[in-house]
Amino acid sequence: PGGITTNHDELLAAGKIGSLFNATTALQTNTYQKIAVEKSRLHIPVLFGLDVIHGFRTIFPVPLGLAATWNIDIVERCARVAAEEASAQGIRWTFSPMVDVTRDARWGRIIEGAGEDPYLGSLIARAYVRGYQGKALNNPSSILACTKHFVGYGAAEAGREYNATEISERLLRQVYLPPFRAALDEGAATFMSAFNSLNEVPTSANPFTLTEVLRNEWAFKGFVVSDYNSIREIMAHGIANDEPTAARKSFLAGVDMDMEGHIYLPNLVALVRSGVVPEGRVDDAVRRILQLKFTLGLFDHPYVDAAAAAHAAPTPEHLAVAREAAEESFVLLRNDGTGGDPVLPLRLKAGGKIALIGPLAVSADDMLGSWAAVGNSKEVVSLHAALSQRAVQNNLRLRYAKGAESIGASEAGFAEALEAARSADVIVAALGERAIATGEGSARSDLDLPAGQQKLLEQLVATAKPVVLVLFSGRPLTISWAATHVPAILQAWFPGLEAGPALVRTLFGDANPSGRLTVSYPRSVGQEPLYYNALSTGRPLAKPDEPLDANFGNRYFSRYIDEKNSPLFPFGYGLSYTTFGYSDVKVSASTASAAALNLGQGSIVASAEITNTGGRAGVETIQLYIRLRGTSVARPVRELKGYQRVKLEPGERRRVEFRLGRDELKFWNIDMKDIVEPAALSIWIAPNSASGSATEVQVRD
Ligand code: NOJ
Repeated sequence: PGGITTNHDELLAAGKIGSLFNATTALQTNTYQKIAVEKSRLHIPVLFGLDVIHGFRTIFPVPLGLAATWNIDIVERCARVAAEEASAQGIRWTFSPMVDVTRDARWGRIIEGAGEDPYLGSLIARAYVRGYQGKALNNPSSILACTKHFVGYGAAEAGREYNATEISERLLRQVYLPPFRAALDEGAATFMSAFNSLNEVPTSANPFTLTEVLRNEWAFKGFVVSDYNSIREIMAHGIANDEPTAARKSFLAGVDMDMEGHIYLPNLVALVRSGVVPEGRVDDAVRRILQLKFTLGLFDHPYVDAAAAAHAAPTPEHLAVAREAAEESFVLLRNDGTGGDPVLPLRLKAGGKIALIGPLAVSADDMLGSWAAVGNSKEVVSLHAALSQRAVQNNLRLRYAKGAESIGASEAGFAEALEAARSADVIVAALGERAIATGEGSARSDLDLPAGQQKLLEQLVATAKPVVLVLFSGRPLTISWAATHVPAILQAWFPGLEAGPALVRTLFGDANPSGRLTVSYPRSVGQEPLYYNALSTGRPLAKPDEPLDANFGNRYFSRYIDEKNSPLFPFGYGLSYTTFGYSDVKVSASTASAAALNLGQGSIVASAEITNTGGRAGVETIQLYIRLRGTSVARPVRELKGYQRVKLEPGERRRVEFRLGRDELKFWNIDMKDIVEPAALSIWIAPNSASGSATEVQVRD
């Protein structure tokens, strides 16, 4: 930025670089480290950071996909593998996890987070931190987590990248801050300030969030790094007209380290000399960073074993984690039959014919997703490669045709694809958005499939052959047409290196889909921002999705005249190859005392019987939601407060129990106190955020 070119060697020798990012090999990190340790005046080792987001060399599903597993254990294991691989190259700091709650699929970075729910997002944030940081930071395979982007970035207005955010303090504390707090409670060593302004104050110079909340209230002891150039950008935001002011505002607000802004280095000394920035504040920031370098053991072991690291290809063990994570990330959105049996899992006899159609069946790059560190597309097993192998094993006939381009409206490939489709027993359509259309800098104002792919899909369905849509994307796409016309839809995200094997095992039923959505799928883009934990309004529809009268008689409700309110697929939703029944919901008491709950005493126990009513073993994610009515401020129509993933054999039945105590029932009330209030409490134990019936409990004074 600003035309600055950096001579790393010189600056390292001069002691002017304390941390570096984007070195990726042991050779590089050791070389830089040697300069810092041997040539700089104080011999302080460098901390190497990198965006290790969903894997380092072994690439896992993108974070939104990983979140769809709802499996805290697999999230932690993926983060652990990433830490082991990155640390072997000398990288001891990752710019992850991104814990921004996101309610808008237009925002490209929805792919990098855990979705729209603060409760689930908090559990996932903790899992990443545990995985990266391990049991102790001085273990050579532990890397520092960096919880980002502090804070509110996911609420970018209109989903447009880097846009302003306006979030009331209550909403901030209730929805956007909890995953950050959870990461901190798990010991996250560093935080990253963000690009966005929050309530008119850029978050990289925001004293309320960085000092009042993070340092004073939460007593955070680690350091805060700015986002890339975000200190300089406060000038573009309009709260500083020159570099010294930008340096002063960000520094005094609480940003300890300047990432690529090139603002602190040339300005802080003068600001200290002139008395504008107290020297003690600089000492504090330096101490925080040095403290972590000591804790990591960098002073004792600044180098890594370059010879060992040079051969660090993904191991079979790491690939097994990647495959398991990918399988668990898939969400079965639809599985209807053509005349009875559901299309999936595929049941093809020897000699059966599959037409594999679509650009995403072969594109290894896209499978790597939005942020693949040193992931190598040559190590990706595509759907086409894995399906070809399965076809040989099972004596099936496979024909592949690209059919459509991954962007644009070209129909040039249609004829070949349709010919393959017409002679097949089943069509597998691998469609979606490109990975490059997701992530940072890829906000979209339209969430449809690319025009050519949509048209191709319609023509494939018109062949009357069963179609399975394998949908690759980093966000919910608007697939209303597909949801009513394509019998089977598997949301595959971008699954990583093991994309193909994981998909083939799922399509053939060796693995049973268990992923659940962590974001609401809109019917049309005009519904965004769309999220399940919304407020009721004063004019909710009496019946969900009540159609509009011909004469518009029922239009004075909180509704659209041209679209339903409900999502196409709700938060928490996902099908399985088996089915589950919910029955006999019980609560431990019909009343509870708010006063006791506030003292941490007592709780409400809610339970339900869950039965595997289908013919296969499967994992069900049983979700507990609440609503509070009669409170001092309006509370969402539903909030997730617990869930359990349970594996059940066919016919097996289990009672699943949840406990609701102070933590689950408190909220930021009208006096900005985080407490339990007397209320009418509705409890659902349900397979997703849009189903089940409520059991009522009175929370008294
Ligand atoms: C900008 C992104 O917002 C942030 O997430 C990332 O860690 C930095 N760039 C460094 O690449």
